[in-house]
Amino acid sequence: MQMIIRESRQTDEHDIAEVIMACHWESPVADHELLALRWIRQFIVTEPQNCYVLEHPDTRKVVGYIVCATDTIAYESEFDKTYFPKLKSRFDELEAQAFEYLEENRKLLLFTRIHETGINLANYPAHLHINILPAYQRSGYGSMLLSAYEENLRKRRVPGYHLGTAAGNTKGLSFYNKHSLDLLHTTYEDGKPAISILGKRL
Ligand SMILES: CC(C)(COP(=O)(O)OP(=O)(O)OC[C@H]1O[C@@H](n2cnc3c(N)ncnc32)[C@H](O)[C@@H]1OP(=O)(O)O)[C@@H](O)C(=O)NCCC(=O)NCCS
Repeated sequence: MQMIIRESRQTDEHDIAEVIMACHWESPVADHELLALRWIRQFIVTEPQNCYVLEHPDTRKVVGYIVCATDTIAYESEFDKTYFPKLKSRFDELEAQAFEYLEENRKLLLFTRIHETGINLANYPAHLHINILPAYQRSGYGSMLLSAYEENLRKRRVPGYHLGTAAGNTKGLSFYNKHSLDLLHTTYEDGKPAISILGKRL
């Protein structure tokens, strides 16, 4: 099938949230607003020209995406100032409403700030998140999105990028290995590897 790869738009937010939910939750219980505040909105509002979506040509639905911040230090500073407070207050709102799936959503509040890991952000200043709906995985679309992303960063003279993934995400790690990313850092929880941070110089 001839899928469309195009730059993101703010109207893609809903579909992207559905893709994240399908890839990372066992059932559709994640709150869309929390997903948007944590993983989507800042990227597609701040730099839509550096984010790409995979659009189905018949349904026009977004079935995969890659979002990007070209300058992670600036991204994290803006996230802490603007988006994290909103994320926290959305979570508090759900808690006050005794939202049925509160515990499943709590993980959206927990994350490592990249600038605290000690990786050399001068070499890998950009970062990305990528997901493809299960029905469209392993068909070359992730590779197509990653190539569009890398080409764009090269054009913009960005020297490298990094990303974080669960240390147990074997299919993701295999994908990144195929695309020549190196392991830069591992975070641990209770003595066990939790997050692998990978990077690539361009
Ligand atoms: C990881 C992901 C983005 C890769 O995109 P994709 O379109 O599936 O990958 P491609 O078809 O371009 O590349 C295929 C390669 O990716 C890896 N891969 C993708 N799906 C896989 C699967 N189900 N099992 C094992 N390896 C897989 C393999 O290395 C595979 O190469 P192979 O078929 O020669 O073994 C996509 O599978 C995905 O969204 N997975 C679920 C969520 C996720 O892990 N996101 C990344 C979090 S950081």
